[in-house]
Amino acid sequence: MKFETLAIHAGQEPDPATGATVVPVYQTVTFTQDAIGEDRGFVYSRSGNPTRAALERCIAALEGARFGLAYASGMAAIAGTMQLLRAGDHVVVADDLYGGSHRLFSKILPNFGVRFSYVDATRPAAIEEAFEPATRLLWIESPTNPMLRLIDVATCAEIARRHGAWLVVDNTFATPFLQNPIALGAHVVVHSTTKYLGGHSDVIGGAVVVDDAALFESLCFAQNTTGGVPGPWDAWLTLRGTKTLAVRMRQHEVNARRVAEALRGNAQIAAVHYPGFADHPSHEIARRQMRGFGGIVTIEMRDGEAAARKLCESTRLFSLAESLGGVESLIGYPFLMSHAAFSPEEKRAKGVSEAVVRLSVGLEDADDLCDDLLQAIAQCR
Ligand SMILES: Cc1ncc(COP(=O)(O)O)c(C=O)c1O
Repeated sequence: MKFETLAIHAGQEPDPATGATVVPVYQTVTFTQDAIGEDRGFVYSRSGNPTRAALERCIAALEGARFGLAYASGMAAIAGTMQLLRAGDHVVVADDLYGGSHRLFSKILPNFGVRFSYVDATRPAAIEEAFEPATRLLWIESPTNPMLRLIDVATCAEIARRHGAWLVVDNTFATPFLQNPIALGAHVVVHSTTKYLGGHSDVIGGAVVVDDAALFESLCFAQNTTGGVPGPWDAWLTLRGTKTLAVRMRQHEVNARRVAEALRGNAQIAAVHYPGFADHPSHEIARRQMRGFGGIVTIEMRDGEAAARKLCESTRLFSLAESLGGVESLIGYPFLMSHAAFSPEEKRAKGVSEAVVRLSVGLEDADDLCDDLLQAIAQCR
């Protein structure tokens, strides 16, 4: 079945108890057993819940893999994945990553004896050099946040496999509509479903997808033990959002391209980063491993911090807010928002300077969005 069909039907058969066409919200902690040890597939909602199971099966199908787990947030999904590791393990991390992941990797997990090496993952030789005998995992995001660089997933998968390690890809920005890392050789895919999968900025959630049964067992054990699960309402809202992922992603991309083109060449803007531009440094990788270029546009203001801050505070349709991937357009200042967990030197080294502004282009009319940005930019002179 094709993507649009899976999004609406995978894991979403009519309810076996009532025939309800839409998966119901199973708002229950526990499930009555027919006899001791005889249950009907569900026992206790931390271990499994039918609404959550529908979401998990749907996201797994969209990623082209066999197994999915839904979590209470993207960070819970990332923390759950890291519970595959043990003290003494080493992780190679692409240094261009979400600030919250960096916070977990630098402030929490080292306390448990896990070590991390950061590399510029656009350079395969740098990844290769960072591997040690104890390396169990290579962690990447592609496209990266907020500079929209692409990492070659197949090359990373090949390096990880050769070293007996797992490749984990945070696929939040691309979504399964545009990119399926497991088909490119990755072992684990993580999502903040808070973003495009949920799609309406009304529910926090996360997901992990794997195709390997042993990895799935380990992740289920860790999740059931540590408990970072979403409630049934949140699972239901995320599943409702996921049904329309394809139509939303197509329009996000149309609007993002319109915005990127409207801003390119503006005298007050030093650079417009959008992987859909043929002269974007990662354009060829994007064409190879993605089916489109997504809905995020990142710009750099010529007059630096003052202009970037003024822009963020002068838009009327673009809301100044954390997050991305919802139907409404958001504007963000990565230096002090998504990337607050990095030191100023680390941010600048990755190009996340005080002049950078990130746009999550929503589904409003593209002319209105361009007009809004242009009126705000005019105020930055
Ligand atoms: C790429 C990426 N991964 C993970 C997360 C964390 O997700 P959540 O906020 O749902 O915990 C985010 C949040 O912004 C993100 O952008």
